Amino acid sequence: MLVLGIESSAHTFGVGIVDGGRVLANEKAMYKIGTKGMIPREVAQTHISNCNAVISAALSKAGIKINEIEGIGYTKGPGIGTCLQVGQLAAKTIAARLCVPIAPVNHGIGHIEIARIMSGLKDPVALYVSGGNSQILKLSKASRRRYTVLGETFDIGVGNMFDTFARSIKLDPAWGSTVEKTAEGGKYVPMPYTVKGMDFSFTGLLTHASRLAASHRKQDVCFSMRETSFSMLCEATERAMLLSGSSEICVCGGVAQSARLREMLKAVADEHGARFGFAANEFNADNGGMIAFVAERMLTRGAEEKLRDCTIEQRYRIDSAEVFA
Ligand code: FE2
Repeated sequence: MLVLGIESSAHTFGVGIVDGGRVLANEKAMYKIGTKGMIPREVAQTHISNCNAVISAALSKAGIKINEIEGIGYTKGPGIGTCLQVGQLAAKTIAARLCVPIAPVNHGIGHIEIARIMSGLKDPVALYVSGGNSQILKLSKASRRRYTVLGETFDIGVGNMFDTFARSIKLDPAWGSTVEKTAEGGKYVPMPYTVKGMDFSFTGLLTHASRLAASHRKQDVCFSMRETSFSMLCEATERAMLLSGSSEICVCGGVAQSARLREMLKAVADEHGARFGFAANEFNADNGGMIAFVAERMLTRGAEEKLRDCTIEQRYRIDSAEVFA
């Protein structure tokens, strides 16, 4: 089924096209985040300006015409309200014009499902790490229709911690990856390490790192912050895998682009003879491909939504979204 998916939950306006689980196009345009972070009204306006061009680029890349599209997906949430509305409106307009079914997709489910399926894993413990999210999840044993949150951050997402720190010491964007680059060659200085069971917290680490930045080399603070936060994530993920009886780990979300995090998680998996997987980086960054991918699975299983019931939900919890595993 040829499905077009639109992602617009934050700084990225992405359009993906899939057919039978194969991603034919995955185009995007991004709002440039300045020193003030994301200003919702400006981001939404940028998405509106980019909408037509990104849809056209995706159709051209896939080598199809818009009237060949057989289904539409869009990000229902979570995300910034004004930004979500742009994608929702575009998706509903195309669905109405073409008289094709539409499916609202949870952004986090998009990240996890494309990573799980593309890496060939069946029932992994999923570490979902991005700016706004840091969670450990697994499909519910009974139904496999919902992800259960086994552990999550008590405060901010790990990506948000890197971004806030990078801004505070005036590193260039993109924030998270700049911290990663600056960390190269750094030496470890002790940092607060907060894991409680399968949950974790990053604000103490952020505050401590920000204070140390005045008296220590940037690369030492970045290195120590990265190693500490990733060790916390690895410890909690390892515990979740062992307690849930899984023998697979997958990582997804923007921070999953970190080679160091993947190296550390692979070491955890290897120690227990478990399998480890992740999707290509284009699907870890925000993208329309993952939305189209999940929407196709929903639509081929009859989970279409009536146009009048298509809404957005800024705080759309991942464990309240139905999954078609
Ligand atoms: Fe994301």
